[in-house]
Amino acid sequence: MKFLLIGDVVGRSGRLALKNNLPKIKDKFEIDFTIVNAENSAGGYGITGKIYEEMISWGVDVITLGNHAWKKNDIITYIENNPQNNIIRPLNFQQDSPGQGFKIFNHANGKRILVCQVHGQTFIDLQLQNPFELIDSKILSLLNDHEIDYSFLEVHAEVTSEKNGIAQNYDGKFTAIYGTHVHIPTSDARVLDKGTCFQTDIGMTGDYNSVIGMKKDNAIKRMRTGNLSHRLEPAEGEATISGAIISTNKDNNNSIQSIQIGGVLDRNLIS
Ligand SMILES: [Fe+2]
Ligand SMILES: [Fe+2]
Repeated sequence: MKFLLIGDVVGRSGRLALKNNLPKIKDKFEIDFTIVNAENSAGGYGITGKIYEEMISWGVDVITLGNHAWKKNDIITYIENNPQNNIIRPLNFQQDSPGQGFKIFNHANGKRILVCQVHGQTFIDLQLQNPFELIDSKILSLLNDHEIDYSFLEVHAEVTSEKNGIAQNYDGKFTAIYGTHVHIPTSDARVLDKGTCFQTDIGMTGDYNSVIGMKKDNAIKRMRTGNLSHRLEPAEGEATISGAIISTNKDNNNSIQSIQIGGVLDRNLIS
């Protein structure tokens, strides 16, 4: 099977690029299942139920979130009113958080796919449980007991060391472990020793002619002055779709390819 992983979609520019290019990407790379991080899709902060439903209608299978999960209250109501939703928030959010930290999907081809997200703890101003403890107690038994064919662990984290630590710790347990959140793709996509596909961060789907997706001027003013009253707004130029494609085969010799399509990082992969 082939899986498409897409990094943090930022604002209207990111959404537009996804809408326009997803069918082409799925066609060109023969994608069977698509996971999109959309924590920045609504004006740069959070997601709404409407945006979620639009993305599903474009051919996305699963939406993941992150530290900006609840920036738009609308999504909490949406999740509560639509318990069958395919939205995954970090598993190690506090225990009473809305939503789900993982879900098992039954693909039309009969395969069972588990998608899970955890949040890193370093340099993150959120109340979080220990991600290792949650994976150990809630996910590993599912992988063993529930006939899961393919499994994906997204690590939404600020620092590369934590993403690498989690990936190396669970090498061989998941089909792929990949990072999101920093909005810049890393050039380390590879298969780890025990067969798990890994990339420290799959990057952002947004306008890279920006400061990690936000308009340059105010982002720089905030840094120069420390004055946070300068509003951050998503940059509006053409977005690059950034992510990774995981290819699996019967012998479990899986592979990972980093992709950047459109905008200033375009690598001419679909033309
Ligand atoms: Fe984030
Ligand atoms: Fe993000």
